[in-house]
Amino acid sequence: MKHDLFIAEGLVRRYGTRTVLDGVGFALGRGEMLALLGPSGAGKTTLLRCLAGLERPDGGTVMHAGLDVALLRGRERRRIAMVFQQFNLVGRLSALDNVLAGRLGHVPAWRGWLRRFAPADIALARRCLARVGLSGHEAQRADTLSGGQQQRVAIARALAQQPDLIIADEPVASLDPGTGAGILDLLTSICRADGVAVVCSLHQPDFARRYADRAIGLRAGRVVVDVPASLLGDAELQALYDGAIHSTEPLS
Ligand SMILES: Nc1ncnc2c1ncn2[C@@H]1O[C@H](COP(=O)(O)OP(=O)(O)OP(=O)(O)O)[C@@H](O)[C@H]1O
Ligand SMILES: [Mg+2]
Repeated sequence: MKHDLFIAEGLVRRYGTRTVLDGVGFALGRGEMLALLGPSGAGKTTLLRCLAGLERPDGGTVMHAGLDVALLRGRERRRIAMVFQQFNLVGRLSALDNVLAGRLGHVPAWRGWLRRFAPADIALARRCLARVGLSGHEAQRADTLSGGQQQRVAIARALAQQPDLIIADEPVASLDPGTGAGILDLLTSICRADGVAVVCSLHQPDFARRYADRAIGLRAGRVVVDVPASLLGDAELQALYDGAIHSTEPLS
C-alpha cells in the first residue's frame, strides 16, 4: 500500500506550558483503516483535530493529497469528513437535511443559506442514507432516532462529502458493544469499497484488532505503538496502558 494520501510529520501541540502532542508522525494510504489507541488524555482528540485542520499544530505539518491541511480554508477541507462520539447532528432537522449538510462544501454558498439543494444533491443524500441502512427514515427528525441510527446518519453525512479521509473520534463510545460493532463494520466496508482512508480513535483494543489494518498508540503525546492491528498484543498494550485496564470483554 502506498502511504501517501495523508502524511503527518513532527506534530507538536502545546496548551500553555503543557506539550500535548510531542512529535507525532505517521503516513496513511487510500483505503487504510487506522485505529488510534491510548489512555485518556494521551492527545488522541487533539491529534484528530490537527489532522482535520480544525486546530493548528505549533510545529510539524499535516499534508493531505500534497496540500498542507493547516492552510486550507473551510470549503477546501471538504474531502476530510469527521464523525464524533456524540454524533453532532442538528436534532430538529430531518435525517435527510442532516446528510445534506455534508454537501455544503460542494454547492454554491447561496444554496446552503437557503437550503435549496439541487435534485442531484438530494439524490446523493438519499443514496448515502440507503448506504448506511436508513432508507425510509429520510423525513424522521434526527433527535428521534436511536443512538446507533444517529451515528449512521452522521456517517451518511460524512459520505455525502465524498471524502477521501474520514476522521472518527470515538465513534462507538456512546453505543452498546453490538451497535458499536455495526458502526465499525460500516466504516470498514466504506473503507474497503470506496478506498476512503479512516482514522478512528477507540478505547477497545479488541475492536482495533478486529476492524483496523493498523494500530497507532499514543501515550503522553508520543507514538509508542505503530503495528499491523492483528499484531496488537500484550507488549503493545503494556507500553500503552502499563497493564492497566484494557477491554478484554467478549464482543457481543
Ligand atoms: N483547549 C485546550 N486547552 C487546554 N488543554 C487542552 C485543550 N484541549 C485538550 N487539552 C489537554 O490536552 C490533553 C490531551 O487531551 P485530548 O482531548 O487530546 O486527549 P484524549 O486522548 O482525546 O483523551 P480521551 O481518551 O479522554 O478523549 C489533556 O491533558 C487535555 O486536558
Ligand atoms: Mg478524546
